[in-house]
Amino acid sequence: MADVILKNITKHHGDCRVIDNLSLDIRGGEFVTLLGPSGCGKTTLLRMVAGLTSVEQGELWIGGALYNDIPAQRRRIAMVFQSYALFPHMSVKDNVLFGLRIRKAPPHEMFDKLSWVMPLLGLEGLESRLPKEISGGQRQRAALARALVLDPEVLLLDEPLSNLDAALREMAMEELKRIHQQVGKTILYVTHNQAEAMSMSQRIAVMKAGRIEHFDTPRVVYDHPHTVFTAQFIGSPVINMLEGEIERGDGVIGAKTGLGFFVLDRDRGAQAGAMIGRRVRVGIRPQNVLFAPHSAARRASDTRIEVTAELVETLGDRSLVIARADDGTMIRFMITRDESIPAGTRVAALVDGRRIHLFEPATGINVFAGDKQ
Ligand SMILES: Nc1ncnc2c1ncn2[C@@H]1O[C@H](COP(=O)(O)OP(=O)(O)OP(=O)(O)O)[C@@H](O)[C@H]1O
Ligand SMILES: [Mg+2]
Repeated sequence: MADVILKNITKHHGDCRVIDNLSLDIRGGEFVTLLGPSGCGKTTLLRMVAGLTSVEQGELWIGGALYNDIPAQRRRIAMVFQSYALFPHMSVKDNVLFGLRIRKAPPHEMFDKLSWVMPLLGLEGLESRLPKEISGGQRQRAALARALVLDPEVLLLDEPLSNLDAALREMAMEELKRIHQQVGKTILYVTHNQAEAMSMSQRIAVMKAGRIEHFDTPRVVYDHPHTVFTAQFIGSPVINMLEGEIERGDGVIGAKTGLGFFVLDRDRGAQAGAMIGRRVRVGIRPQNVLFAPHSAARRASDTRIEVTAELVETLGDRSLVIARADDGTMIRFMITRDESIPAGTRVAALVDGRRIHLFEPATGINVFAGDKQ
């Protein structure tokens, strides 16, 4: 259960700064996800931890030792690559045992490891099949088995579920979580899928252009996103972003937008007292806009808005309503399957001011970040 500490790591590919003064502190046994868009440097970072790419500047510490110059073969780290990279001409069993054979492990160790890992990953009975003779999910599990039998201190997983369909991916996610609980390895998991990151990780490092935007538990990155980028990357459907200004209302402080005046909760309102008149970007998650055809505002922090529904998209058990206010401000919110809003209808909704997020327009940083970070 080794901890992995990255200190001020920088890496260039040619003129391009792919990793930019990045620091990250992963505890031993923790399941951490690197979440970010294509090209932000996730694979590059994993390859550095694995020793497949050199660390140009900064320090990489694993289990209390400086690893910058330790060659890959001397690191007790296993990586499952984005493409699985199973050997096509080898059986599942030979693929799983490949690393142990290279290490010249004794036969009884190979037997023990195989007897442990095959049932753990539901691969029993598939030992003699070739990779092309098993399903995508089984291939993914075989690649994971090949990594696990090496008994790594750190397991690096690079988008291992990206080739699976939604149902298989959900099953694989549950399995991975279960495996993590059973084997207690430090896992660094890469994905650009926020749902995977939210459901599996103990902490999520949201990455953008070689830097970490926010590193915290799924709950905190969702409830208190440090930046606009994090707020937009985490959560589905994507958060609404409105233009606004911090103002003093009737004995309260809130954000004035084209949709109305949203009252902040007391703690944040007190802090915002020093920010009156500041322009802000106001983030409102679609889940925090409550469709309210009849009800009046229920709490002091609820603001009633009136909008015209333009489009309604069915998501299954819920629908997403895309609506416009009189001044042109757009807002997206959810309704249940029992509610119905025909396009073109004028509707009222409630927004809970305790759940709105305020960001500095120029930097995209949460104006309350000081006490949340
Ligand atoms: N060997 C290389 N030479 C030059 N540029 C590279 C090399 N490897 C990666 N890059 C560039 O570095 C940046 C980060 O690449 P990386 O593979 O780490 O991204 P990623 O976050 O894993 O993306 P994806 O989600 O698409 O896998 C990209 O702009 C990529 O084009
Ligand atoms: Mg990648």
